[in-house]
Amino acid sequence: MILPIVAYGDPVLKKRGKDIEKGDADLPKLIEDMWETMYNAHGVGLAAPQVGKSLRLFVVDASPFAEEQDPDYEMLKDFKKVFVNPQILDESGDEWAFSEGCLSIPDIHEDVFRNETLRIRYFDENWEEHEEELTGLAARVVQHEYDHIEGILFVEHLSPLRRRFLKGKLMNITKGKVNTSYRMRFPKKK
Ligand code: NI
Repeated sequence: MILPIVAYGDPVLKKRGKDIEKGDADLPKLIEDMWETMYNAHGVGLAAPQVGKSLRLFVVDASPFAEEQDPDYEMLKDFKKVFVNPQILDESGDEWAFSEGCLSIPDIHEDVFRNETLRIRYFDENWEEHEEELTGLAARVVQHEYDHIEGILFVEHLSPLRRRFLKGKLMNITKGKVNTSYRMRFPKKK
């Protein structure tokens, strides 16, 4: 089932998600709905708060970023994962800029600086525990989604000047004055 994606300005996007209880009976259906919702919106990641659930859960499919000439091609081409109750253990490496977007903040793309590498521990959809080191674009997508479950949006990484410049656009998104190919839920739509 495709779920509406919550737009910028909704308080659920500002809350830290709660841990999911092991064996939660509703989890498989929620994961299935999140995949469907993400692919329908042509996203590479989707976090539970973006469908109105304040939980520590996100899904990522970074394979659209995989280009054969890229050194990270092998890591990216099959990078399709579910992260349940993830914990970033460490971030390292140089900070680098990448133009990020977000399904909750349509039509805005801005350079965000993040560390190159991270270590993360998480459960998959079968409650198997993993600990992995990620780098480059795989790390980037995970950092963006991890922020969501911490109640942080990518625009919060921008300079105050840049955010002031975007204020009007962000307000329009909150009010539903934006066109998207997918269904959204706007906090202030009249
Ligand atoms: Ni996002």
